[in-house]
Amino acid sequence: MNNQRERWGSKLGFILAAAGSAVGIGNIWKYPHMAGQNGGSAFTIIYLICIFLVGLSIVIAEFAIGRKTQLSPVGAFEKLAPGSYWKYVGFLGVASAFVILSFYGVVGGWILKYIIESLSGGFSSLAGNPDASSAMFGAFVESTWSPLIYQLFFMGLCMWVIINGVKGGIEKWSSVMMPLIIILLAVLAVRGVTLEGGMKGISFLFNPRFEDLTPSSIVLALGHSFFTVSLGMGTMITYGSYLEKKQNLLNSALWIIVIDTLIALLAGIAIFTTVFALGANPAEGPGLIFVVLPSVFTQLAGGTIWAAMFFILLFMAALTSAISILEVQTAYLIDQKNWSRKKATLLFGSIVTVIGMFCSLSLGGGINITGFLGESFFLGETFFDVMDNLSSKYMLPIGGMMTAIFVLVKWKIPGYLEELSTGVDGYAINAGLIKGTLIFAASVVAFIIINELAPFF
Ligand code: PFF
Repeated sequence: MNNQRERWGSKLGFILAAAGSAVGIGNIWKYPHMAGQNGGSAFTIIYLICIFLVGLSIVIAEFAIGRKTQLSPVGAFEKLAPGSYWKYVGFLGVASAFVILSFYGVVGGWILKYIIESLSGGFSSLAGNPDASSAMFGAFVESTWSPLIYQLFFMGLCMWVIINGVKGGIEKWSSVMMPLIIILLAVLAVRGVTLEGGMKGISFLFNPRFEDLTPSSIVLALGHSFFTVSLGMGTMITYGSYLEKKQNLLNSALWIIVIDTLIALLAGIAIFTTVFALGANPAEGPGLIFVVLPSVFTQLAGGTIWAAMFFILLFMAALTSAISILEVQTAYLIDQKNWSRKKATLLFGSIVTVIGMFCSLSLGGGINITGFLGESFFLGETFFDVMDNLSSKYMLPIGGMMTAIFVLVKWKIPGYLEELSTGVDGYAINAGLIKGTLIFAASVVAFIIINELAPFF
């Protein structure tokens, strides 16, 4: 079976696809509003420490597990540790994929709707009026059918890309979209910085306000560092499994983390410079993108174009990430159950779309479901929020921690180093450093998760 395994077309194609998975709603929607609410660069500093000290070692581990076994997570853990319980770390990854893609697909649908609104001039009445913008957003997400229809379109497109395969679907789309995302974001950032008063946004983003940083901001930063680099659910194991032995895994991992971080910072610059130049509220929270931006972009000359550009780039970022989540699910059925790519995609894609519909309906969209799934669903959170928090605060960090522990105690450093050294020419890998970073990563995550869970007991 391995002989026919699908492959990336080129080294660059693989890096763009993996960076495409990493760069998503997390960078452009979540990071700026989290930084805005949690101390600006104080949050950014913690987030960078988490990414480079914890995230990097786990990206490398995931790539190595995938490339070594040439299998997606469940099969990969089973192959390296036959007959053990480790395969459940793989199953946790598949489960996380269901949880994340359910709400991710809903947000993907919102973005589609906002592209259409911006192009059709639907934002023109919102100029400088965040209350009207908030009312429009609220009315949309709380309605029953419209968000579901957009979500269906978004998920349909994801399924179509995945059905087209690793090279013909994922790589092809990511190779076109990633450069476009960077170009559009850079244009928006330059526009923002050159607006009068725009530089205030830069100091907001880069001046640390440690007094706004709480212990829960640190948990948030750690969880987000997993979410933003797509770690802890086997996405990078799956993408690594389509690699040949020539790729330098250490360099590739570094590239992906650097691209992901730069795009998050660029998004922060583009957004906060514009928000400050036009006097809007930077600490708006999750509404920053869908509420504040439509009302500020439309105040600029050529506002329709700026708004459309922003939502189009956000859409591309969301799509290249969503396909990577669907690929984890699809690859499980292909590798473990020998299903065809088309059948696997259609089955899991449809199931996750249906779960996503409940996320959408939990926000208010009627048919008497809201009473159960709405704010009383779990500790004051809606089903939508539960899926979001469950994945980024718990499932991904736990999956990432288990991956690090797996390499340390089961695969063991010598075997791991042998895999890492393949494709690396010209320098020797420092075994102590590799081991130390994995131990550090696992310990930090364990400490934070225990602290987070302690109040429940
Ligand atoms: N990294 C994506 C983002 O920042 O939006 C989200 C994501 C994709 C999380 C794939 C996990 C994953 F496996």
